[in-house]
Amino acid sequence: MISEESTKIGWSAPSNIALIKYWGKRAHQLPENGSLSITLDKSATTTFLTFQKKDEKVEKISLNYYFQGERHPKFETKTARLLHYLRSEMPFLPDYELVFHSENNFPHSTGIASSASSMAALALCLVSMEEIINHQKRSKDDFFRRASTIARLGSGSASRSVFGGIVTWGCNESIAASSDEYATPFQLHNGSRLNHIRDIILIVSTKVKNLSSSSGHALMNVHPYREGRIKQANTNLEKISNAIRNDDYLRIMEISENEALSLHALLFTSASDGLLLKPETLHIIEEIKQFRESNGLDLFFTIDAGPNVHLIYYDDQREIVLPFVQQRLSRYCENGQWIDDKIGTGPLLLTPETDS
Ligand code: PMV
Repeated sequence: MISEESTKIGWSAPSNIALIKYWGKRAHQLPENGSLSITLDKSATTTFLTFQKKDEKVEKISLNYYFQGERHPKFETKTARLLHYLRSEMPFLPDYELVFHSENNFPHSTGIASSASSMAALALCLVSMEEIINHQKRSKDDFFRRASTIARLGSGSASRSVFGGIVTWGCNESIAASSDEYATPFQLHNGSRLNHIRDIILIVSTKVKNLSSSSGHALMNVHPYREGRIKQANTNLEKISNAIRNDDYLRIMEISENEALSLHALLFTSASDGLLLKPETLHIIEEIKQFRESNGLDLFFTIDAGPNVHLIYYDDQREIVLPFVQQRLSRYCENGQWIDDKIGTGPLLLTPETDS
């Protein structure tokens, strides 16, 4: 039995692509090393949360989760696990019937980190709900910092999707205000070309990979290169931060490609199913290198924990890059599929602001 009116909150949160990769975690979703990513513009998850007070006090959290219009048992279980964990932080959760409706505007399983955008959208809805229940409006900074902390508990990379632009997560001496608990936007100066950075995602395969990122993180605990990796990633984060501040785009390119290949070197030395690259992935990398050299460009590739390649370039190179993708790279993509995205400004509230 349910009383009172229901309330609806909606957020759209973008995905992100890391240039410095978070790989390995400790305690509850704390990163072994710092990371840095580009928040995307188009590729996003939209989530609506409807909540209504229960008539009777029941300790159990009650929720239904719909994805693309249909009940989704896997996402429901994942969300229930997170909400259960959050009960001490958000003690009001068991008092409400919760219904989530979530949609991705990018094709499912296409190598875009959907856990980053979906967990960020979910966290934003929960923090908005918290404001309403507690009649307490947070400052903008406090709101997004809390959402980033909650998102992190669902998926580490989601902590970064709560902010637009270039975002870091994980303590690093070279970045003021960096934290392991939540992500922080990286301030770019007005003239930085990174304000106009773009990402073409080349879909080599849409097949769900054998190795989940949770298993990959866990394998890092016993990896023989563990210590070396933590040191390498933190040094790369420091170097890329300086390169961004100094407009050293060649250095950004070198460090980013080194990170992508290091992630995969760790992956395929972790487990027998850790070889996620495909022959097409390597063809694309070779083509990008040749194209870059013959045109004197500073564009580059990065790869997530899968076979798909992100071609990172700048707006002023678009005229030459698009024909290159169409004529040279799309043939390596599954059904010729690729996604045209760019740096974005971060999440969007889809329902009217409340006064709380
Ligand atoms: O957020 P998770 O637990 O899915 O881990 C993501 C790890 C990488 O995508 C490989 C790197 C990153 O920093 O996004």
